Amino acid sequence: ATKDPYLEAIPKVELHVHIEGIISADLKWKFSQRNGQAIINPRTGQPFSSLDELRDSHDTLKPRTGNRMNNNEETLSFFEAYYGGFEVLKTQQDYYDLAMDYYEHAAAMNVRYAEIFFDPQGHTRCGTSWETMMEGFRDAQRKAEQDLNVKSAWIMCFIRDESPDSAMEHYNAALKYRDMIVGVGLDSNEADRPPSLFNEVFVRARNDGFHLTSHCDVGKTYPLEHIHQVASSIAGTGADRIDHGLNAAGDADLMKLIKDKDLGMTTCPWSYIRHQPLDEVFERIRTLFDAGIKIAIGSDDPAFMEDTWVSENLLVAKRYCGFTNQEIQKLAENAIKVSWAAEDVKRQML
Ligand code: ADE
Ligand code: ZN
Repeated sequence: ATKDPYLEAIPKVELHVHIEGIISADLKWKFSQRNGQAIINPRTGQPFSSLDELRDSHDTLKPRTGNRMNNNEETLSFFEAYYGGFEVLKTQQDYYDLAMDYYEHAAAMNVRYAEIFFDPQGHTRCGTSWETMMEGFRDAQRKAEQDLNVKSAWIMCFIRDESPDSAMEHYNAALKYRDMIVGVGLDSNEADRPPSLFNEVFVRARNDGFHLTSHCDVGKTYPLEHIHQVASSIAGTGADRIDHGLNAAGDADLMKLIKDKDLGMTTCPWSYIRHQPLDEVFERIRTLFDAGIKIAIGSDDPAFMEDTWVSENLLVAKRYCGFTNQEIQKLAENAIKVSWAAEDVKRQML
């Protein structure tokens, strides 16, 4: 509970959450116990012998909150922890339970519509079939809509440190499930992996009617050029949204471009305060908002922060950007407007 009644009560739309980013130590333990599979401690090479031990390890691998600059070592430790979570998912039931865990959190926070990222390559490289993954997600998606009043759609992310060929192969395989998928994106480690490398698959996705987005992570090492590509050149004309992209706040021309093209930006405060000075983070969020850019607050990877979901992310934005309730309402409306929900669903929510 966030102890902010206004914030808790408003209907929400969440556009930036990775389904794999909710895999907590507790969920890992549940799946591994059920499947009779040990989880190996990467530090010792031995299986974890208790949930407590696994929880401790999960906590140490979490990026720390504080005024540290991000560096490659920290990024690698995050991805090591994050992709480690994929290995416990074995059955359709696991995928169903994982998605239901998100939907239950969403319902409790009054989230009415969500677009949820998933990383298919991370699952297929663990030996999971598309059917296991997608049918589990599909059953949960239906159940959430019927019983929890949470509508949703999926965004397939390509892991940008995998090859463009792998992205294309996965794109082709995903077409069988295209009724569930509204868009394609790009995530994982951005170092030396500009969005333009994946132009071919973005062009195809655009032509097939998918919406496009890409992560442009926050950090000193990621060039503004990546945001430029997402805003104006991938798939010929640029994407529909930018995930993170906070670095744009330092460049008036780039902000103008984003504003003029009316691109949505998804913003996840807890992801940044892990490794950037607080005042810098919130100043930049405020700058984008004040420039009239439609930013929408999301949670990114709740299990890898401090169990911080969309409500907690809205709460820190409110506190440290000084957003009024009216401005919080505006953020909520931004999320609806820049979402890829059907027009009638958007109208109902606005
Ligand atoms: N995949 C999941 N979380 C991510 C993040 N914060 N940045 C890039 N890729 C991710
Ligand atoms: Zn993300």
